[in-house]
Amino acid sequence: MTKAIILSGGWGTRLRPLTCTIPKTLIPIVNKPVIERQMLLLKSVGVKEIVLAVSVMDGVIKSYFKEGEKLGIKIYYTIEKHPKGTAGALKLAESYLKDDNFFMLNGDVVLNYNMGEMLKFHSKNKGIGTIAGKVVDDPSRYGVLIVNDETHQLLEFLEKNEYSPPNGKVVPMPINAGVYILEPEVFSYIEANKKVSIEREVFPKIVKEKNLYYYPISGIWKDIGNPYDLLQANILMMNDLINSLDGNTKNLVDHSVNIHPSSEIHPPCVIGENVVIHGDCKIGPNVVIGDNVLVENKTSISNCLIYNGVYISNNAKIEKAIIADNCNIRENVVIEGNNENLVILASYVEVLKNLKIIAPKTISLTVCHHEVVKESMK
Ligand code: GTP
Repeated sequence: MTKAIILSGGWGTRLRPLTCTIPKTLIPIVNKPVIERQMLLLKSVGVKEIVLAVSVMDGVIKSYFKEGEKLGIKIYYTIEKHPKGTAGALKLAESYLKDDNFFMLNGDVVLNYNMGEMLKFHSKNKGIGTIAGKVVDDPSRYGVLIVNDETHQLLEFLEKNEYSPPNGKVVPMPINAGVYILEPEVFSYIEANKKVSIEREVFPKIVKEKNLYYYPISGIWKDIGNPYDLLQANILMMNDLINSLDGNTKNLVDHSVNIHPSSEIHPPCVIGENVVIHGDCKIGPNVVIGDNVLVENKTSISNCLIYNGVYISNNAKIEKAIIADNCNIRENVVIEGNNENLVILASYVEVLKNLKIIAPKTISLTVCHHEVVKESMK
């Protein structure tokens, strides 16, 4: 096995407005696109060629990765004019993948686990496919896997609305993690030139033939379906990166960063290149800051993702928010999410001074790209 396919052509509707200007699979996870992290993990287990199945904003993805020179992986593209569904996209890559088994990944999952072990497991069981699963406390938002614990065979593959917990009581269950190893036989289950879903139309057929196996992920896994998941996925990856270091490192701060001695960085935080943080600021915990960001005096930021080129003026308070590229936040601004509801500013948003943007209790609050916020939003 030396090949993989990554699905990278969805609309990413739940992450709007971030996905109005950037495809979901290029969204940064600790300052690197989610699929770039996947590609590096695949490379570490010997994958040398990757097909990116692109559709929505295909040009943006192609101009970022080109032919894979920077990553040292050969990248091919299949392009769907309109998204053809998860199996329809796979079918288009048949000529690249027909000779040997291969990894298939949803391009919106954050991972770090031993994929080499999964490959050994797959080779031992000799099924048409192995599906990686993760046990989660509330499986209701995901495809649920019903497994024979002794043989590891999948007994049922239930899509989001097909699973109801026994007696209505939610219990932890393994869910489809969107990572598979498949044999080329899978192509015979997919009709060509049609929109086909692998989860709804292909896996249930192979499950009936008892030819799909379940591999439990013991390392980190998180999908970036909605904005809160995206924040959590960044925190998970940030902790994973920091924990892999020497034990004394609590924050990952680029050497080019300039932080005034009176400012405090509360771990864990990641701070990218050429960031300047002036005096009496409180940054963290759970903050990822990209490159070329300027934070003025007396500003506090916690549980936030701040992308590249953002300017934050004096005495701002930002909590539970995602601030996309090149936003401009003026002085005395308060931006506040709550529980799972974040404030999301898309790229190039400007917030004028003394305003408050507070997410309501039940839904995230979003501002579209290039908007100028001129009055408080609550
Ligand atoms: P939502 O619109 O918010 O549901 O996001 P999404 O469009 O990304 O859909 P979903 O989360 O179901 O997709 C899982 C993964 O499959 C993502 O990496 C998508 O980019 C990818 N994907 C979904 N549908 C297609 C498709 O029709 N073609 C291709 N090439 N990729 C797809």
